[in-house]
Amino acid sequence: MSEHRIELTVNGNRHIARVEARTSLGEFLRDTLGYTGTHLACEHGVCGACTVMVDGDAMRSCLTLAVQADGAAVTTVEGLAQADGTLHPVQQALRDNFGLQCGFCTPGVAITMAAVTRDNEGADSGAMEEALTQAMSGHICRCTGYQGIRRAIRQLAGVSA
Ligand code: FES
Ligand code: FES
Repeated sequence: MSEHRIELTVNGNRHIARVEARTSLGEFLRDTLGYTGTHLACEHGVCGACTVMVDGDAMRSCLTLAVQADGAAVTTVEGLAQADGTLHPVQQALRDNFGLQCGFCTPGVAITMAAVTRDNEGADSGAMEEALTQAMSGHICRCTGYQGIRRAIRQLAGVSA
C-alpha cells in the first residue's frame, strides 16, 4: 500500500506524518493524531458526525482522504473553545438549550454551526436561523428529537423563544 508524507495543522498545531493513500481524514485525526472528538459513524457521508473544518469549510472527514488535507488547516471540535476553556458560542448555545444527550453527533453539529454562523455573520436573525436550520439537514441526531438543537439555533440567531 502506498504511503504519502503529509503536513497539516490541526487546531493550530503542526503535524507531519506518513499515511496510506486510502486513509480517511477522520481515521487519521482519530487514530494517528488522537483527536477523538471527531466521531465516525456511517462512514458514508450521511450522518454528519465526522464533520471537521478544512481551511474553514465544513467537510465530512469520512469522505475526505488524509492526503487531501496535505497543507490544510483543520479544525476539530477540540479547537472550538478558547485556550482558557471558554466555550465557543455554538457550544454554549447547545449546552444552554440541552441540544445534546449522548453527544455522539454533537462534535459534527457544533463544527457545522460554527462554520455557518461565521459565514453568515451580520445576517439578520431570520436569515441566520434559516441558514443554521438548513445546515442541520446534514446531521442525524438519534437522541434529541432536534428540539434542543432548534432552541440552540434560535439562541444563536437572536430569535426570542
Ligand atoms: S461518519 Fe461521516 S457522514 Fe457519517
Ligand atoms: S445527542 Fe445523541 S445522537 Fe445526537
